[in-house]
Parts: sequence; C-alpha cells; structure tokens
Amino acid sequence: MARDNMQQTKTQYMTTIAEILDQTTFSKADIVRLLTVQDADRQALFAKAEATKIAHVGKKVFYRGLIEFSNVCIKDCLYCGIRKSNPNPTRYTIAEDEILEAARFAYNNKYASLVLQAGERTDEKFVATIEDLVRKIKELSDNSLGITLSLGEQSRETYERWRVAGAHRYLLRIETSNRELYYKIHPENALHDFDQRIQALSLLKESGYQVGTGVMIGLPFQNMEHLADDLIFFRDNSIDMIGMGPYIEHKDTPLAAFNNQLLSRQTRFDLSLRMIAILRIMMPDINIAAATALQAIDPIGREKAIKVGANIIMPNITPTENRGQYRLYEDKPCTDEGAEDCSNCLEARIHMAGSEVGFGEWGDSKHFISKQQQ
Ligand code: 5AD
Ligand code: FES
Repeated sequence: MARDNMQQTKTQYMTTIAEILDQTTFSKADIVRLLTVQDADRQALFAKAEATKIAHVGKKVFYRGLIEFSNVCIKDCLYCGIRKSNPNPTRYTIAEDEILEAARFAYNNKYASLVLQAGERTDEKFVATIEDLVRKIKELSDNSLGITLSLGEQSRETYERWRVAGAHRYLLRIETSNRELYYKIHPENALHDFDQRIQALSLLKESGYQVGTGVMIGLPFQNMEHLADDLIFFRDNSIDMIGMGPYIEHKDTPLAAFNNQLLSRQTRFDLSLRMIAILRIMMPDINIAAATALQAIDPIGREKAIKVGANIIMPNITPTENRGQYRLYEDKPCTDEGAEDCSNCLEARIHMAGSEVGFGEWGDSKHFISKQQQ
C-alpha cells in the first residue's frame, strides 16, 4: 500500500510530455526528455512540431540546388571521407563552365537558389575564383538565383568579398557545441580550433549573411546532454538556418575506430527526427534543412524530416561524373543519378509528405527577415 502511494505521488509530480510541450520555453532537462520519447509521446512531439511548422512557415518546402564542386580540402576532420589525409578519393574540381551549366539547370527548373559547397581552401586563387563564380551565376540568372555558400572557415575579408559579389547565405556547421567533443572529432591544432569556428559564425553575421549552422547526431562520445546543448546553442545565437543529420561512419577515417560504440543507424535516424521536431518548436520561424545524410539511412528520410518540421531540401545537382568522389560518408545517396533523375520523383515525394515545393521563390529564413525589420 505504502509503495502504491509512493508510485502515485511520483507520477503526480513528474511532468508529462504533454505538459512539457505546452510550455513556451524548454529547459535543458525538458529537451533531454523529449530526445528519447517513444510511442504516443513521440507522436505528440511530432504533431506539435508539424502544427508549429505549418503555423509559422507554412507548407512550402524550398529547394537549394547543391553543387559539390570540389573535394580538395586542407583540413583533416576525423569523421570526413574527403579529409586531406585520406589518399583514396580521386581529387576533383569542376571546371567553371560545368558549374555554370549546373547553375543554369537550377535556374531553368525554378530552384531559385543554389548552394556552392566544397572542401575547405583559403588560398587567394580559390577566394578569387569563388568571387568570380558568384558574379557569373548572378549574371546568368538575371540576378535572380539566390546563392548560399558552404566553404568553411574564412577570414572576415573573404566573407565580405563573397557577400559583395552576391552570395547572401552561408552554411557553416559547428558539428557540436561542446568543446571537448569537438576535439574528439577533430585534431587539436590551429586549423581545427573550436573558438575560431564559433567566431566564424559571428563574422558571417557581421558580414550580413543569413547564417546557417548545424551538428552531427549520433557521434561516438556524444550524449543526450550534448545534443540538448546544441539546440540551446542555436536558440541562444539566434541562428537563421539549421542543417543537422545523423553521423554516418566512413571506413577510411580515424573515427571509424569507434564504430563499435555507435548507436544503431536506425537509432541515430530516430534521434535526428526528434532533434528536428524539438528545434522546430523551439525556433518556429527558422529554416530547417532535411539533411541528405537522413536519406543514407532511410530512402524517404528527408520526407520524414519534412513531416516533422524541416522546410528546406537540397537536391544534388552536381554533374554526375564527379558525384562518387564527394563521399563524406559511406552509402551517400544519389551518387550515380543525374540531377534530373533526382528531381523527378522528389516533388511527388514532397507532396506525399503533405507539403508543396516553393518553385521560383527564395524562401529566405523568416527569422532573419524579422530580425532585419526590428
Ligand atoms: N557523417 C555525417 N555527416 C558528415 N559530414 C561530414 N562527414 C560526415 C559523416 N561522416 C557533414 C559535416 C559537414 C557537412 C558538409 O557534412 O557536418 O559540415
Ligand atoms: Fe574538409 Fe573537414 S575534412 S573541412
């Protein structure tokens, strides 16, 4: 009897998931609980995230045509397949006319925006090439294609040059907001400096970009507290756009030594969906991308992410010959399909997820726009 009473008291005082979801601000402890919800509680989380998304950013999903134009990289992140010290990938840099061709594809297919992504380089030749490329893409599209850059850590001057040339969004994932974990997945040296990476986000903001960041989910050594802190970091820093997805092991990287410590792929995937759903409720008006890595685990992973809060998709429009060499992780999807094959079924799948494609619209972060108006 006494025991029953105790049980009863415990349940009475324990906050329910419904009560957590009803709050306007989540504490770290709330987030940790939401990260592991199952069954009906998980459904409640996903339903609230979907309703929040529809109320604040609507049902539209915006495309960003992704061009991975070079896998040459000066860095050595311990998880990444194109790290400098991996001798296996054939290094490529796509010629300018081919990049412009891909940009034209995006323009003609009303993608409205593209993302130029590559391994990291900081030499002047590279900086000037990008500057020129951004100008040419603006020209060929009558100034209408939105350009997002994802080219790593650069100096303030470089960020400003590219901004003046016409790029207006920048993606730089912090990978994790936890310093110790950062140094477990990066070598600790001048090229991989946690403070510098955080600082780069401020430089980008000051240079006038819409700033995107993100983390990997399910890294070795990572726990729920780290992930809760990541979401709080995004909120505290008023980030405009987020792209986050599961960590996927790559056999030719040093982090593969810890594969036996990983959560199952399915668990990493489920955790990623919960991260997206929680973030949508925490930051209702930001843009959240359905990361490609989700699709490496589940063929309709990105569509599932859209259902629970994501509103951006980055269809890969890199010319096919080079796709296979941009392998950040194993089982990277769509490495042998052309851009058109990829986009044909994508729209139908987005409709199946209850959304529509915002063709011809930039779909800028509402969060960024409302900050501008303040
Ligand atoms: N698994 C998942 N994502 C990865 N990235 C790099 N390597 C991996 C991996 N093994 C992500 C990083 C990087 C982005 C371009 O790709 O988060 O910022
Ligand atoms: Fe290229 Fe990390 S390995 S930036």
